[in-house]
Amino acid sequence: MADLSVNICGIDFKNPIIPASGVFGYGREYEEFYPLSELGGIATKGTTGQKRTGNLSPRIAETPAGMLNSVGLQNPGIDYFIQNELPNLLTKDTVILANIAGASVEECAEVAKKLDSTEVHMIELNISCPNVKQGGAAFGTSCEMAEQVTAAVRKATKKPLIVKLSPNVTSITDIAKAVEAAGADAVSLINTLLGMRIDIRTKRPVLRNNVGGLSGAGIFPVAVRMVWQTANAVKIPVIGMGGVNTGEDAIELMMAGASAVQVGMAVFTDPYAPIKIIHQMHDFLDENHISSVRDIIGTVQPW
Ligand SMILES: Cc1cc2nc3c(=O)[nH]c(=O)nc-3n(C[C@H](O)[C@H](O)[C@H](O)COP(=O)(O)O)c2cc1C
Repeated sequence: MADLSVNICGIDFKNPIIPASGVFGYGREYEEFYPLSELGGIATKGTTGQKRTGNLSPRIAETPAGMLNSVGLQNPGIDYFIQNELPNLLTKDTVILANIAGASVEECAEVAKKLDSTEVHMIELNISCPNVKQGGAAFGTSCEMAEQVTAAVRKATKKPLIVKLSPNVTSITDIAKAVEAAGADAVSLINTLLGMRIDIRTKRPVLRNNVGGLSGAGIFPVAVRMVWQTANAVKIPVIGMGGVNTGEDAIELMMAGASAVQVGMAVFTDPYAPIKIIHQMHDFLDENHISSVRDIIGTVQPW
């Protein structure tokens, strides 16, 4: 069988498949289905300085080939996570990526600082959330804000720092270069694409928040394009995600330049999706006589 192991920022992953932040909670619901040790890693639900209850319902809507969500960053807060969830996750023999967020640069740095004294393997900083102190635009939509929050989190922790980029920008490569310069050890992308649906009978937006993030198979080509552009623009590793449903999707994102792949919405339709994807990757590599998955990273040959 082909070797699926990868190394990102000095951390060994037994395979490149990681359930994405926000679709896997802190792992507990999925432990009933399979040992979490079968996964390359787990990106935990976005965690903030204080507990948050998230947005009002309805906050989920189906779309053709995907879904819209406006869950907001519902989470129990970083202290609860460190005391009650992280110890359990760290027994699972898989890489734990603590996804963090905040309403200000200071909050993001404070959360990272708290994680710095834990055994968590990596920090994934979500910069798609609003910078409340600066008018509410998402940190990840301007190079200046993205750089500022990355630099502050960089100062707060020695843990490998992945910055998770927002696709709702004109130039993903400018943002990626800005966070690389500010000290990110890796980038991950894409977060959800901003969308909206309207119930034409009530004239009300389907989501109580009016707008929400689009994920699922429908966004896969956008993810491939952005991963490819980013991998060609930065020297740090890229972790790809967005609409991955099969092992072949994961192979495609790795050919575009991803060193590992996160699986989001697919686990809602099939909790076994990450495990099936790992098996399908093995099948593809074996059928094509490729001995290591590392040999396919960035091998796309553009016209
Ligand atoms: C219900 C839901 C909640 C999410 N919560 C978070 C979050 O807390 N932090 C984050 O960085 N991304 C969050 N995401 C974004 C996913 O991690 C992922 O970037 C996105 O959904 C694209 O991947 P997919 O098409 O495979 O779902 C969430 C996505 C969904 C569907």
